[in-house]
Amino acid sequence: MHQPEHILPDEADFPWVTATAGEQGTEELGRRLGAVLGGGEVVLLFGRLGAGKTCFTRGLCRGLGIAEDVVSPTFTLVNTYRGELVVHHLDFYRLGGDTPLEDVGVMEILDEVEEGRAVLVAEWPDPLLGELKGLQPVYSWLGVAGAQDQQRLWRLRSDSPEADHLARELGLHREKGPDA
Ligand SMILES: Nc1ncnc2c1ncn2[C@@H]1O[C@H](COP(=O)(O)OP(=O)(O)O)[C@@H](O)[C@H]1O
Ligand SMILES: [Mg+2]
Repeated sequence: MHQPEHILPDEADFPWVTATAGEQGTEELGRRLGAVLGGGEVVLLFGRLGAGKTCFTRGLCRGLGIAEDVVSPTFTLVNTYRGELVVHHLDFYRLGGDTPLEDVGVMEILDEVEEGRAVLVAEWPDPLLGELKGLQPVYSWLGVAGAQDQQRLWRLRSDSPEADHLARELGLHREKGPDA
């Protein structure tokens, strides 16, 4: 199968950061995010294989009262969970460059999100970036390995006016700029 190339965004473009220790730490961060979502949000998860994107999503679902197993939709492309809100969990890692997003049902998902009825969480979201049509808020997260074993740094970027408040609520801190 055609394996598309994935380009990771530049860490320097993500002003907020926090560290998590182990799978549980990342799940907890996701859980706290899920607990403050109200529907209509787009959560983009960037990071290499093993960064913890699926683990983060599991936590996010827990925060919305979803008790079901949350597993990688690597082969199904979309898993849909129903709790306090509908969560569509997408993973485009294996999406061939020639597979139209329509075939995955993305347009219907985006409509549901726009109406505030669902949350969209996407791993390897590059194919989605041109399709978001001004949907707000979009929270982009980048997970990278930390200096310690089992540590991940989770970085957040968002143009949403609520982002700074959300970041503080989740315990993230703003990294000093180069001239700060
Ligand atoms: N701090 C951490 N956060 C999340 N996962 C971690 C962490 N430290 C180690 N891990 C391990 O890394 C893997 C992350 O897997 P997964 O969530 O499927 O990653 P991804 O979806 O980004 O490919 C798991 O095996 C998990 O146990
Ligand atoms: Mg994954």
